[in-house]
Amino acid sequence: MPRPQKHVFVCTQNRPPGHPRGACAAKGSTEVLQAFWAELQKRGAHERVAVTYAGCMGPCEAGPNVLVYPEGVMYGGVAKADVAEIFTQHLEGGEPLGRLLAPATVWG
Ligand code: FES
Repeated sequence: MPRPQKHVFVCTQNRPPGHPRGACAAKGSTEVLQAFWAELQKRGAHERVAVTYAGCMGPCEAGPNVLVYPEGVMYGGVAKADVAEIFTQHLEGGEPLGRLLAPATVWG
């Protein structure tokens, strides 16, 4: 298996309705994950980019959250319509997409 240049983690955590932290799955993260997989297929990027579903990554209120390594870039409020742009600009172009970056306080 080739070592990917980028690894994308999509939070698909779910919680019961009314849970105080909410959950990315309740905000459409499964569609986001499917959009990443579809984009991976469309671009034939399997050897360069890995996409993995993940559990809670912390900033639930800002979800759906997507984390990209090796940079450790966290995106918040990601919709399936954003996925192609993340692919083009960040995963293939190397420039994180500023408009979706989680605030620096996420890492504080
Ligand atoms: S539920 Fe997705 S980051 Fe917590």
